[in-house]
Amino acid sequence: MKTFLSQVSSIATTVALAVTALAAPASASTPASAGPGHSPDKHSHAAPLVIGHRGAAGYRPEHTLAGYELAARMGADFIEPDLVSTKDHVLIVRHENDITGTTNVSEVPAFAGRKATKKIDGRPVTGWFTEDFTLAEIKTLRAKERLPELRQENTIYDGLYQIPTFDEVLQLRSRLSKELHRTIGVYPETKHPTYFRSVGLELETPLVRALARAGLTKATSPVFVQSFEITNLIALRLEYKVKVKLVFLTGATGAPYDLVSKGDPRTYAELTTPARLAQLAKVIDGIGPDKAQIIPRDAAGNLGTPTSLVRDAHAVGLLVHPYTFRAENAFLPVDYRRGTNPADFGRILDEIRAYLNTGIDGFFTDQADIGVAARDAFVSAA
Ligand code: G3P
Ligand code: CA
Repeated sequence: MKTFLSQVSSIATTVALAVTALAAPASASTPASAGPGHSPDKHSHAAPLVIGHRGAAGYRPEHTLAGYELAARMGADFIEPDLVSTKDHVLIVRHENDITGTTNVSEVPAFAGRKATKKIDGRPVTGWFTEDFTLAEIKTLRAKERLPELRQENTIYDGLYQIPTFDEVLQLRSRLSKELHRTIGVYPETKHPTYFRSVGLELETPLVRALARAGLTKATSPVFVQSFEITNLIALRLEYKVKVKLVFLTGATGAPYDLVSKGDPRTYAELTTPARLAQLAKVIDGIGPDKAQIIPRDAAGNLGTPTSLVRDAHAVGLLVHPYTFRAENAFLPVDYRRGTNPADFGRILDEIRAYLNTGIDGFFTDQADIGVAARDAFVSAA
């Protein structure tokens, strides 16, 4: 019978390697010391991590050096770049390869002919795509706010910032760690890994090389590599032999596209059952669930009752870093909103505290300053 790992691996990972990994001692996938916010027993004593989601997306256009720097200066333990590839196979930071909504590309006459419709992760998408631009061309573009109506204040920065490469983010991380006299971690996410591999621009090799150039290769390095797909995480561990920590992102609905593309029916819900978590824990270090998988909302949209997910994950040694905490009413449970303006900030501190009470080990937030305030208050009260 095939092992779980060989079932999900689309690369030439052998069953023998997979079995070896499943039988590996905990030290192979469990760092003894994992940088800021971590202790040897991972989730018993460490202060929960604050992860600057897409930089400081609540205050600056996402995935800009200005946003990452602001998050770090606000006290974020980690900054979070999402990774996609250019035509010349350079990793840049964008939430998706379609850059229509977060850059000025649609306003550049020279690029009008690049507009295309493609099938990305099984769905048709029309726009401008990073894999059709060289890095030099990408560098002529400028970032803009994704949510201009909700985050109107961020639009004053539209047109100011370039699209950074992953290398530039790593260099910023190093510089700020020295300047701020504390280790700032990096939490890169591979976006659409199956798709990029299908067009000859796989993400894993340039990711591993960039981390090596930055000296971030150890289990103790302040790095988590995350993915909504499981195949490339397993490949990173078994084929690329990476030692840094790996986090499997999961959705409240749906299934990993690497499995979907192979006709594998398993969903995120099945992959987060206690039995599957125990198998995943042989290879990865944590999960990054949608926060609704930890505390779902009830029928009225209020914050409901916690599930057993944090307990189940901790039982097999997995860290739990849910996404995404955002201060605006538009993103909050009904009973945590203040007033009726979707852009106004609601009871985000209370929402984060409710999740910290479930035992989470860290969390992604668009407002790192608020995340730090919530985390510090929680730790002080403990
Ligand atoms: O990586 C955690 C979280 O960022 C996943 O959601 O869509 O914002 O990348 P997304
Ligand atoms: Ca992300």
